Amino acid sequence: PTSSVCVLDSKDAAESAPCAHSLDSIPGPTNWPLFGSLIELLLKGGLKRQHEALIHYHKKFGKIFQMKLGSFESVHIGAPCLLEALYRKESNYPQRLEIKPWKAYRDMRHEAYGLLILEGKDWQRVRSAFQQKLMKPTEVMKLDGKINEVSADLIKRIGRAQVNGKIDDLYFELNKWSFETICYVLYDKRFGLLQDSISNEAMDFITSVKTMMSTFGLMMVTPVELHKTFNTKTWQDHTAAWDRIFSTAKLYIDKNLKRQSNGKTGNFLCDIYHQSHLTKKELYAATTELQVGGVETTANSMLWVIFNLSRNPCAQAKLLKEIQDVVPAGETPRAEHIKNMPYLKACLKESMRWAKYPSTCKQQLKYYTILMINSQAIASNEEYFDNGKQFRPERWLQEKSSINPFAHMPFGIGKRMCIGRRLAELQIQLSLCWILRDYEIVATDHEPVDALHAGTLVPSRELPVAFVRR
Ligand code: HEM
Repeated sequence: PTSSVCVLDSKDAAESAPCAHSLDSIPGPTNWPLFGSLIELLLKGGLKRQHEALIHYHKKFGKIFQMKLGSFESVHIGAPCLLEALYRKESNYPQRLEIKPWKAYRDMRHEAYGLLILEGKDWQRVRSAFQQKLMKPTEVMKLDGKINEVSADLIKRIGRAQVNGKIDDLYFELNKWSFETICYVLYDKRFGLLQDSISNEAMDFITSVKTMMSTFGLMMVTPVELHKTFNTKTWQDHTAAWDRIFSTAKLYIDKNLKRQSNGKTGNFLCDIYHQSHLTKKELYAATTELQVGGVETTANSMLWVIFNLSRNPCAQAKLLKEIQDVVPAGETPRAEHIKNMPYLKACLKESMRWAKYPSTCKQQLKYYTILMINSQAIASNEEYFDNGKQFRPERWLQEKSSINPFAHMPFGIGKRMCIGRRLAELQIQLSLCWILRDYEIVATDHEPVDALHAGTLVPSRELPVAFVRR
């Protein structure tokens, strides 16, 4: 994605940003009544190409500019030093952009909020309940067995699904892989999404998440109350999708809790439930949000790293050598091995420098300003990355790296940073080991592949890659 979001007190922003005395003095594209800069953005290629327009605006207006799209006002930041200043002023309970459609659904069904929409002390309480299991390296390493089981299925699936090495809708296959993994971790349940025939329950579950994600965007930029009052198709689809997500999640959470009460221990969710003071409703809500937060993000990062390796055969060969040096032939790659694979970590980091997560939603709080972190603008700025447009994992391995840590934040930073980061990294790293040991990833053409903004940055066409058996 191109940017991520945080919400900041406008007084803090003015103090933190050396070039901004007040938000009104920040430059930006023409702000027309009613439309703001929407028309200009549409003329520059539309919302799908907004990440490119943002890079252009940074070149034109500098490292901080403001923009209004309809009634959605935001300040865009494209400089690591400004981000550092902002994060140093982070409050105890950093605020996230409000996802009103999700809240409207929960309020209607009397369900709780999860980490993505909670604020204040409630957020902190739920966050600390999950923090240990998801952020402590030794805890996450214990999940490698489950990740490997799904990776083994992915390899078999690639073998069966490829025709001349090409896989039809690779992105969907990777979404199934990340969905299967997160469900196995959370619910201790295999849904079999990487099998040739998929059960109705599994298909329904993954489709519901897809529908829920594809219907909330519109209700972020138009009043959700209107959708609810007029019972629009978007609202109906959105709520029906959440209903299905919640009913399936509850079914398997309850099964886990029951198994635990029958004496079984060592279960991810049960441990969290019993070691914290979460209510069952809070557990349901937090779990479903972890699930939806962990599917497309991980699949998308995996997709781009596959693409980058296909276009950079030397990096791929170097990575394969590292894998073969560290994991003895015939042995399963484990989390312990990954510790000794700096090049693998660098490849993922370098790939994620480009493919990060934009957010284009809105919140109107009287005294607050929405800040967009334009990671694409930073990644393509030669001031921060030499030859920034090249895929060069080596840049992360230099002993005296001159890269500012605030120039690379695909998982965010600070107290609200991604709680699934370690899990996602381990998942991608282990699965890459599995894939590269069995397959060479080759580019089937060398024409450019554009990235389009669709929540995450997605390729403009089916990726020109093939998996060739070694
Ligand atoms: C938050 C990216 C995988 C669950 C975030 C944020 C980003 C992000 C940028 C916002 C951080 C901030 O506000 O500073 C990613 C990327 C992933 C990924 C790039 C994969 C490569 C996952 C996974 C899970 C997950 C696997 C679930 C296990 C969450 C949750 C939050 C979050 C629950 C909200 C945390 C909070 O507010 O306390 N993620 N994420 N993410 N992510 Fe991820």
